[in-house]
Amino acid sequence: MNKITIAIDGFSSTGKSTVAKQLAKYLGYIYVDTGAMYRAVTLYAMEKGLISDDDFNIEALVYQLPNIEISFKFNEILGFAEVYLNGINVEKEIRTLKVSGFVSQVAAVSQVRHKLVEQQQKMGKDKGVVMDGRDIGTVVFPDAELKLFMTASAEKRAIRRYEELIGRGDKVVYEDVLQNVQERDHIDTTRKDSPLEKAKDAIEIDNSSLSLEEQFDKILQLAKMTIEDI
Ligand code: DC
Repeated sequence: MNKITIAIDGFSSTGKSTVAKQLAKYLGYIYVDTGAMYRAVTLYAMEKGLISDDDFNIEALVYQLPNIEISFKFNEILGFAEVYLNGINVEKEIRTLKVSGFVSQVAAVSQVRHKLVEQQQKMGKDKGVVMDGRDIGTVVFPDAELKLFMTASAEKRAIRRYEELIGRGDKVVYEDVLQNVQERDHIDTTRKDSPLEKAKDAIEIDNSSLSLEEQFDKILQLAKMTIEDI
């Protein structure tokens, strides 16, 4: 069967990764969580003291970029690939609210984007890939056969994210999560390099009132139709 590239973009906490993982599993495709890559670079910057609440040493981070190696390794038990930073599994560490608080600033640095986009293009060069992020349909794979753009209200997204963090045992306050979601929306959509925007040929899916099942069914149907068409 023909393989296609599926690009899933959209705002933070729209459930992109959940549906992307399900879809990749169903189709036997590779799943790439590009947000995890930006988060891993952010974790590196935090660990090296290059970013804090009142300072971000962009030059030092750019200088150290060649020392940052990001990779994915499939976890058979979880059923998806986990992200590694210089050989260390950081899947859990990159999901904290602290990393979420800094990641948009790191993702706005052109040199960081350039490095990660190049790696993402290599990972998807043979098609058969579901990649989620902010610029997949616009920059990484502008020729992707299927492009989806996911949206939901900021409040709905913050509730989902809050429940996810609480479920993981993190002590967070809903208002802080909502503020983080709104701040990231602002930085992601207004940055100079590859701002988050819907590709002209992307299909918009507002999942504010869709269950996970309904959303998956809808997207799977679109994927099947696209595969049949090529
Ligand atoms: O999808 P996520 O919330 O894990 O993404 C984390 C951050 O990384 C998000 O604030 C925007 C940025 N990002 C990006 O700029 N480009 C991508 N392709 C993926 C994520």
